[in-house]
Amino acid sequence: MKGIVLAGGSGTRLHPVTSVVSKQILPVYNKPMIYYPLSVLMIAGIREIQIISTPQHVGLFQALLGDGSRLGLDLTYAVQPAPRGIAEAFVIGADHIGDDTCALILGDNVFHGSGLYGLLREHTAHVDGCVLFGYSVKDPERYGVGEVDASGRLVALEEKPSAPRSNLAITGLYLYDNDVIDIAKNLRPSARGELEITDVNRHYLAQGKARLVDLGRGFAWLDTGTHDALLQASQYVQALEQRQGVWIACLEEIAFRMGFIDAEACHRLGRESTHAGYGTYLMELASQGAR
Ligand code: G1P
Repeated sequence: MKGIVLAGGSGTRLHPVTSVVSKQILPVYNKPMIYYPLSVLMIAGIREIQIISTPQHVGLFQALLGDGSRLGLDLTYAVQPAPRGIAEAFVIGADHIGDDTCALILGDNVFHGSGLYGLLREHTAHVDGCVLFGYSVKDPERYGVGEVDASGRLVALEEKPSAPRSNLAITGLYLYDNDVIDIAKNLRPSARGELEITDVNRHYLAQGKARLVDLGRGFAWLDTGTHDALLQASQYVQALEQRQGVWIACLEEIAFRMGFIDAEACHRLGRESTHAGYGTYLMELASQGAR
């Protein structure tokens, strides 16, 4: 399975903070935001990942993450010339996806939960159609919204409905089979001129090939769309990290635990770290071995 992180958009809701930098570079507590979605793809075992961003900002991500080899990843970069919608990622990333399946994650989506590894392993193994991940929120009108029947089967999808038919927001993590490239290429832009991810998902739904997995209450899906939400996401990460003495979305740690790099490489990354606490954490991990 190939991965795509879409880190585009103009982040207008976070101006002036995002006037000259990308939203997805902003800190969520102690790491750039993109670390969090990238960590999700890594936990899913995906190593070939394309990062798509705007012409102004793509260089920032490249400078931050390079070719990914130090993390045992194969990172490539592509440009979305104008904000023409999330689904354009599959048109831009068509060569990257090739004939493989694909996981798309939005660069501003922060997920946290201990069950993530098992859940992703289960659902990435054989993707036939699309798999969406739902999360109950109190303001579903801000998101794509899914409606399920009594048996939990997905029956309808709407993008930012003014009168949502459920509380189940569709999160920014999507798994697709290879048909997604053709579906995206044949989409018509919506009234706001964008290729809508919800239209892709509706296409699968009409074919009876869209599944919704409810993340349930044991997960955190954090919002980063407003100044307050961003601050709260930072506070969430701070509270957990300080209480447990672990780092959330520590890419080096995940690379080590997933077996993308060995203990020696993890230790070296710790030694090279310019942040003493982070470095010590990695070196201790490497000495203890992956658990
Ligand atoms: C996008 C999607 C929406 C989804 C959301 C998740 O909205 O269009 O369906 O629920 O991401 O973050 P946006 O954040 O671009 O408004």
